Amino acid sequence: MLEQQVKMRDEKVIVWCIAILLLQGFHVRASAQVTNLPLPSTGFCESFVSPISYNCTEMMVQTHDGFLLAIQRITTSNPLTVRKGPAFLYHGIMEGGETWALNANDDSLAFMMANSGYEVWIGNTRSSNYTFGHLKFTRKEKEFWNWSWDDLVKSDLPSMLQYVNNYSKQPVYYVGYSQGTMTALASLSEGSITALISKAALLSPIGSLKYITSPFASAASYLFVDEILLLSGVAEFSANSDVGKRFLDITCASSQVDCRHELISQITGTNCCFNTSQISVYNKYSMQSTSMRNLAQMAQMVRSGRFSMYDHGFWNNVKKYSSLFPPEYDVSVIPATLPILLAHGGNDALADPNDVAALISKLAGSPQVLYLPKYAHADFVMGTNASQDVYTPILEFFQA
Ligand SMILES: *[C@@H]1O[C@H](CO)[C@@H](O)[C@H](O)[C@H]1NC(C)=O
Ligand SMILES: *[C@@H]1O[C@H](CO)[C@@H](O)[C@H](O)[C@H]1NC(C)=O
Ligand SMILES: *[C@@H]1O[C@H](CO)[C@@H](O)[C@H](O)[C@H]1NC(C)=O
Ligand SMILES: *[C@@H]1O[C@H](CO)[C@@H](O)[C@H](O)[C@H]1NC(C)=O
Ligand SMILES: *[C@@H]1O[C@H](CO)[C@@H](O)[C@H](O)[C@H]1NC(C)=O
Ligand SMILES: *[C@@H]1O[C@H](CO)[C@@H](O)[C@H](O)[C@H]1NC(C)=O
Repeated sequence: MLEQQVKMRDEKVIVWCIAILLLQGFHVRASAQVTNLPLPSTGFCESFVSPISYNCTEMMVQTHDGFLLAIQRITTSNPLTVRKGPAFLYHGIMEGGETWALNANDDSLAFMMANSGYEVWIGNTRSSNYTFGHLKFTRKEKEFWNWSWDDLVKSDLPSMLQYVNNYSKQPVYYVGYSQGTMTALASLSEGSITALISKAALLSPIGSLKYITSPFASAASYLFVDEILLLSGVAEFSANSDVGKRFLDITCASSQVDCRHELISQITGTNCCFNTSQISVYNKYSMQSTSMRNLAQMAQMVRSGRFSMYDHGFWNNVKKYSSLFPPEYDVSVIPATLPILLAHGGNDALADPNDVAALISKLAGSPQVLYLPKYAHADFVMGTNASQDVYTPILEFFQA
C-alpha cells in the first residue's frame, strides 16, 4: 500500500518535471523570438491597473545581455483623450514599476498622467518582481545576479527607451525616482538616450553620493559590508533572506544607526508626509531583491564621493578602463537644451541637498528646481501630499 503510494508520487513528480521542462522550453523559445507571440502575463496589469478605467498592455523588452524586461503601457480607454505623447516612469533601487501605482488612483503618478492624456509606460529593471526573467538563467542562479548598476545604465534603460521610441515614434517625457534618476543621468552622459527623451523630471535626484547623511547607508558603506558579502560569494541581495539579515545585523551594530526606531527613517531620512497606513505596502514593494554588485557599486560611490563606474580594484581597473580608478559619468555633457526638473527634499538622507547642489553646478543647462524643505526620500512616492506637491508641478513642467 505504502509502496504503491510512493510509486504513484514518483510518477506524479516525473509527470510534473516533464511538464515543467516542456513549459520552460516553450517559454524560452517564445521569448527568443520576442515578436508577435502572445506573452504570458507577469500579472502587473491585473494587480495594479483597473481594467475598467484603463487600458494596460504588457510587453517584453530583451536586453543585449539576455534579460527579458517587462514594460507596461497604460492609457485611458478612450483613444480620443490620449494625445499628449509617451511618458516613461522609472523606479528606484529594490523596487519595480508598482512604485508609481501604489497610492489611490488620483494620487498615483501613473494614473494622474494617464488621466491627463499621456501614454504612460512603466519601466521595470531586470531585478524587479514583475519581469519575464532571463533567456538562460533563473533567478536562483548566481549568473542571473552577476551585474552592477553600470549594466542598468548600458542595457536596461536604453533598451526600454528604444522600444518605446520604436513603438510611439516620439521621444518620451521621462520621470525617474532615486536610482531611476541616477541611471538617466549616467545614460544621458553616455549619450545613449539623449535623442529618446524630450524632458526629464527627476525626483530625489542622485548625481553623487558624497554627502549622503543616511545613517544606515553610510554605516553599511564604511563598514564595507558590501565587500564582505561579495567576498563570501553572495550574488543576490534580498532584504528578507539570511544575507539580508546579516547585512542588517552588521550595520545595526554600528553606533551611528538606531535600528530600533523606524528603520525606514534611518535609511531615507525623516519623512514628513508618509501615509502611515501605507507603510506595510511600501515595505512590501520596496524590498525586492537586487544584485550584490549593484549595492556594492552604490557603497563604492559613497566611499569615493565619485559618480563612477564599477570599481574592480586597481589591477582589473587598468585592464578594463586603462586607469587605476574607474571613470566617472560626466553629467556636464548632457545637452543644455534638455529641459530638466529636479525635485528634491530638505530631509532626504539619500539625495542630500549638497549632492543636489553639486549636480546642479555640473550640469551645462539650468534645471528647474522644486525644493520641498520637509520632504525626505520616501515622501516623493508615498507622501500623502505628493500629488499636489510634486506630481502636479511635473505635469505643468511637461506642458510648459
Ligand atoms: C483600449 O482598448 C480597447 C479594447 O481593446 C480599444 O478599443 C481602445 O482603442 C483602446 N484604447 C486606447 C487608448 O488604446
Ligand atoms: C511578485 O509577483 C508575483 C506574480 O508574478 C506576485 O504573486 C507576488 O505577490 C509579487 N510579490 C511582490 C512582493 O510584489
Ligand atoms: C560574472 O561576469 C564576469 C564577466 O563580466 C565573469 O568573468 C564571471 O565569471 C561571472 N561570474 C559568474 C558567477 O557568473
Ligand atoms: C520596431 O517596431 C516594428 C513595428 O512595430 C517591429 O517590427 C520591430 O521589430 C521593432 N524593432 C525593435 C528593435 O523593437
Ligand atoms: C492613506 O492610505 C490609505 C490606503 O492605504 C488611503 O485610504 C488614505 O486615503 C490615505 N490617506 C491620505 C491622507 O492620503
Ligand atoms: C498637505 O496638504 C494639505 C492640504 O492639501 C495641507 O493642509 C498640509 O499642510 C500639507 N502638508 C504638508 C506637510 O505640506
